[in-house]
Amino acid sequence: MTVTIVGSQLGDEGKGGAVDLYGEPADVVVRYQGGDNAGHTVVFDDEEYKLSLLPSGVVRGKVGVIGNGCVVNPETLFDELDALRERGLEPTVRIAERAHVIFPYHQILDGIEEDDKDDPIGTTGRGIGPTYEDKAARCGIRVGDLLDPDALRDRLTYVVPKKRTTVEEFYETKTDDAFDVDHLFETYRAYGDRLAEEGMTVDCGSYLGERIEDGDEVMLEGAQGTIIDVDHGTYPYVTSSNPTAGAACTGSGLGPGVIGAGEIIGVVKAYTTRVGNGGMPTEIAGVEGQTPGYEGGANTSEEDEKLATYIRDEGGEYGTVTGRPRRVGWLDMPMLRHAARVSSFTGIVVGHIDVLSGLDEVRVGHSYQLDGREMETVPPTTSGWERCSVNFRQFDGWPDVDWSVVARDGYEAIPENARTYLEYIQAELDTSIYAVGVGPAREDTVIVEDPYK
Ligand code: GDP
Ligand code: IMO
Ligand code: MG
Repeated sequence: MTVTIVGSQLGDEGKGGAVDLYGEPADVVVRYQGGDNAGHTVVFDDEEYKLSLLPSGVVRGKVGVIGNGCVVNPETLFDELDALRERGLEPTVRIAERAHVIFPYHQILDGIEEDDKDDPIGTTGRGIGPTYEDKAARCGIRVGDLLDPDALRDRLTYVVPKKRTTVEEFYETKTDDAFDVDHLFETYRAYGDRLAEEGMTVDCGSYLGERIEDGDEVMLEGAQGTIIDVDHGTYPYVTSSNPTAGAACTGSGLGPGVIGAGEIIGVVKAYTTRVGNGGMPTEIAGVEGQTPGYEGGANTSEEDEKLATYIRDEGGEYGTVTGRPRRVGWLDMPMLRHAARVSSFTGIVVGHIDVLSGLDEVRVGHSYQLDGREMETVPPTTSGWERCSVNFRQFDGWPDVDWSVVARDGYEAIPENARTYLEYIQAELDTSIYAVGVGPAREDTVIVEDPYK
C-alpha cells in the first residue's frame, strides 16, 4: 500500500518529520514534484539532516526515488549524496528518466525574472519555475537525455540560443558559459555518465509498480504545500508544481487507484508560516521584503510584532534553503479545509503545538469575510485573497510542559486546552488526527494511528 504525505499549508509544515515518523515500514520513499527548492528536516539520534532534493527516507536506509514530476539539479543531487556518504550513510537513490533537468540558465533566468518584477514572488532562486516552464513548452531536457549524448546535444542546440537571446536582447543582460552549448554539453554529459555508472536512472512508474507487486510498501513525500500549489494556491505567488495529492499519481507514474487506495496524510503546523510574497490573511505582524505592504512595523502593534518574533524564534522559523525569516500567522482554517478537500486527506499530523505553549490565548482564523460574505474556504482569485479579512476564534492557551513526558505518555497527557484546539481542527476537517508533534525529533511525537497498520 502507499502512504502519501502532503503539506496542507504553505510549505515547511514538518513533512520531512512525518516521513521519518511513519516511514519505518516503507521500503521506498518517492518525491513526486518540486526540486531543490524544498528543505526537509529529519532529526534522528541527535543528528539533524536537511535535504532539499533527496527524499527524506534515505537517511533511514530506504530506497529514495526522485519521480518524473520532479525537476532535478544534478549538482545538488550529487552534493547531497556525497554529503550523506561523508556522514557514514549509504543512500540508495533512483531517478526517473522522465524527470526534467535544471540547467544553469534556468537558475539565472529565475533571478532575472524576479528582479524584473515590480512584485517578485520571492522564489528560492533554484530555477524551479523556468524548468517547469520549459517542460510545459516542450523544450525541456530530461534525465534520460543526459545518458544519450546525441539527444543531449540536439536539445541543447535547440533551446540554448533561445535562452541566450531572451537574456541578452529582452533583459539586456550579459551571458556567460551557462548559455554555451559546448560547455553545457560537456558538464551535463559527465553528470549523465555518473548517473549511468551508479545505475541510478529508472522508468519510475514501472519501477514502482514492480516494487509494489513484489510486496514493497511505498511512501510518497510531497514537497511545498497546498497553498503554494500552482493550481490550488495563491497564484501567482506559488511554486510551479502541484504539491497536492493528485500529483502523487502524475509525478510518480502510479495511478489514482493505487494512491487513492492508500492513505493520504496532511501535515499541519499548529500555526501558519510563509516564505515569500503573497496573501496570508492571518499573518500576525510582517517581514520586510516579503509581506505585501509591510512598513517595518509602522502599521503593526508592538504587541503583534513581539508575538510574531516570539513564535518565529520558538519555532526556529527561518528557511531551511534560504535562511529567510518565515512570516508567521495564526492557523488558517479556510486554507486547511481547502487542502483537506483537494487532497482527500484520510488523516492529519498536527505539529508544533509545543511552540504555542505558554501563550495566554491562541487564535485561529475560523473563516474569511469577503465582500460581506462569510467564507469557510479560500477565494480562487488573487484580488479575492487581498480583500479577505478574518473571523477569528479564541482558544485558551496551554502551559509549557515537559513534552518528552507527553510524547511518552500519549494523547491524554497533552494539556487539556491543547487537546481542545486539536479536536476543533479534527472536527472542522472531518478527518482523524494520526499524530501530534510536540518537538522536532521523531521521539517528540504522540502517535495516535499508524497508517501502515
Ligand atoms: P518540511 O519542509 O515540511 O519538511 O519542514 P521543514 O523541515 O522545512 O520545517 C519544519 C521544522 O520544524 C524543522 O526544523 C523540524 O525539525 C521542526 N519540527 C517539525 N515538527 C515539529 C514540532 O512538532 N515541534 C517543533 N518545535 N518543531 C518541529
Ligand atoms: P518545503 O518542501 C516553503 C516558496 C518560495 C516562493 C515560492 C516559489 O520545504 O515545504 P520556487 O523557488 O518554488 O519557484 O518559489 O514557493 N517555496 C517554499 N516555501 N517551503 C518550501 O518547500 C518551498 N518551496 C518553495 O519561498 O515563495
Ligand atoms: Mg521545508
